[in-house]
Amino acid sequence: MSSPHRQIHLAGFLIAGPVVHSHAVWRHPLTTRRFTDPRLYTEVARVLEGGLFDFVFFADRLGVSDQLNGSRDVSFRYGSQDAARLDPMPVVSYLAASTSRLGLGVTRSTTYFQPNHIVRSFTTLDHLSAGRGAWNVVTSMNDSEGRMFGQPEHMDHDRRYDRADEFLEVALKLWRSWDADALIHDKASGFFVDPARIHPVQHKGTFFEVEGPMNMPPGPAGHPVIIQAGSSGRGRRFGARWAEAIFTINRDIEEARAFRSDVRAQMAQQGRAPDGCRILTAVMPFVGRTKAEAIARRDEHNALARPELGIATMSGQLNFDFGVYDGATLVAELAEDVALPYAVREKLAAIGGPGATLDSLGRIWASSVRVPQLVGTGAEIARELAAWFEAEACDGFVISPAYLPGSFAEFASEVVPELQRLGLFRKTYAGTTLRDHLGLTGLTHEAVAA
Ligand SMILES: Cc1cc2nc3c(=O)[nH]c(=O)nc-3n(C[C@H](O)[C@H](O)[C@H](O)COP(=O)(O)O)c2cc1C
Repeated sequence: MSSPHRQIHLAGFLIAGPVVHSHAVWRHPLTTRRFTDPRLYTEVARVLEGGLFDFVFFADRLGVSDQLNGSRDVSFRYGSQDAARLDPMPVVSYLAASTSRLGLGVTRSTTYFQPNHIVRSFTTLDHLSAGRGAWNVVTSMNDSEGRMFGQPEHMDHDRRYDRADEFLEVALKLWRSWDADALIHDKASGFFVDPARIHPVQHKGTFFEVEGPMNMPPGPAGHPVIIQAGSSGRGRRFGARWAEAIFTINRDIEEARAFRSDVRAQMAQQGRAPDGCRILTAVMPFVGRTKAEAIARRDEHNALARPELGIATMSGQLNFDFGVYDGATLVAELAEDVALPYAVREKLAAIGGPGATLDSLGRIWASSVRVPQLVGTGAEIARELAAWFEAEACDGFVISPAYLPGSFAEFASEVVPELQRLGLFRKTYAGTTLRDHLGLTGLTHEAVAA
């Protein structure tokens, strides 16, 4: 069983756009501001910090997918995950000024950025936020992103992860090219930086050729907390090597337990302590004064999420045109289609359940992208989260909102106190950096040498 000192970690999930996992966020009556209004983000961040969350986390993508029927019409007309997004890096830099403890996570792709871009921007965030930055490392998903960067097709799946491995190696060399005490900044003597504490970087690999050092001192965290979200075998291997936090979506406790124990076993194989990574699974809570009220809130929300939007987002995420099928097609028959990778076909059939059609899968994607929706009073939801946590299915949760900032506000005021009462969640921030909140010490050299 779990140690009595194990504590739940919490992240607030966002996209700096109209929808999140819920495709109804922007049009929900309780959402108070547009995604282009900076006050939306400051209000959300204050709520999360008031609820003592570990961090806020922004997912991101780099293009508007036209996978569904070769068109972007549905995405734009109704607002899919791809339709519009602000760049999360300036958004979190802005939030650094209005918060003092909340971790600030940004998604950046190793396929379309260079290590220098990442190290510059996250080191700057590290200084601006006093050690609260996190980088969600993704390899990107679809051809529309490739075409933004002059590539007619997205790079092959496993090759993207090979590039991501080398990307992390280079980025860590750059982050470590200055010793923590290299900046002397002594006005009296006039000494600025000690050249002996700067380490040149000479990297020549398959994907990158980089000569350093960096031109900036490391911030308090040294490098951002590395977050990852990948579910394939190759993706898990990458996560086990590098991630300090993993974001995952699981249908139930059993699936989550299997995922967590697989990642922890792979970490051990790679010489890493399994407790060096926090595995956070996503949930979408609907809190009510009674369970019936919570169910009504969920149903009202789900009715606002258009199924065709779910199909559009699913097509973009899986880089596959589901528009070739009629909506009444059984998911079980879809599972025979060879153009979809086997693991994906299996997973879709399992998510849809027996008798499910493409339309019903579209409804699931539109309302939650398969993130489990939890309904109940604050105490009921807290007990459900405790059950996942105590079964060692996860180290905490990514809370996905249905409306903003209300979903987070209800969670902070109704669920967090119940988790505290159960002795499973902090009553105050003990430290100042995100790694302090997560109880982590950072990546070791073994991870770099693996
Ligand atoms: C829960 C979850 C969230 C993800 N969020 C993003 C994201 O915000 N942006 C992105 O480009 N990719 C995102 N991805 C994609 C992964 O980082 C990865 O590149 C993709 O899933 C392919 O790897 P896989 O086959 O190992 O899952 C996400 C994946 C999962 C499972």
